[in-house]
Amino acid sequence: MTSNIVWHQKLDMKYRQDKTKSKGFVIWFTGLSASGKSSVASLVEKKLVDKGRMAYLLDGDNIRHGLCSDLGFSEEHRMENIRRLSEVAALLEDSGVIAIVSAITPLEEMRNLAKSKAKKFILVYVKAEIDTCIKRDPKGLYKKALEGEIKGYTGIDSPFEEPEQYDILLDTDKDDVLTCADKVMEYIQGVL
Ligand code: ADX
Repeated sequence: MTSNIVWHQKLDMKYRQDKTKSKGFVIWFTGLSASGKSSVASLVEKKLVDKGRMAYLLDGDNIRHGLCSDLGFSEEHRMENIRRLSEVAALLEDSGVIAIVSAITPLEEMRNLAKSKAKKFILVYVKAEIDTCIKRDPKGLYKKALEGEIKGYTGIDSPFEEPEQYDILLDTDKDDVLTCADKVMEYIQGVL
């Protein structure tokens, strides 16, 4: 597809960072629907912006209203969803922005793809028991999936592979959103 397209030399990332004093990287939240990814990710975004940092949240649900509005939830479409999110996150990183991604990213292959696109990639596994997620069910989608109204729902009749490796583990069965966001902030202190 890209064989007839040239690659233009672009401004060096380090040069841009030194001049703008703005260092980008990628923080990627993976976990079941209703595990708490978006809540923690948006609080981390707010905390970074309050510190004067350029941070931008790419939320799976929101992105599916625009950039990925043509995609559904088959494995192929989820892969494409993650590919697009990974590419955008990597562009933000390159531009000096801290890209925060919140998306189920159910398969190891998808998380590996996301990692491969970024220079500095921090994987946050937001863990919650499936029963907890079903109880929370903020969008009523687990109910629909259990009643067979939605097919291929992650954790019900579509797989979620637990990450083999991650940088940060958040247990939202035990810790509240603020505690989880603080854990992320503490971890990224060294990267900021
Ligand atoms: S991913 O699997 O491709 O990473 P993504 O994070 O973008 O998923 O979107 C998940 C959100 O879409 C869920 O939070 C939920 O609100 C909604 N959704 C609708 N249908 C499904 C489904 N079949 N499986 C999972 N989430 C779904």
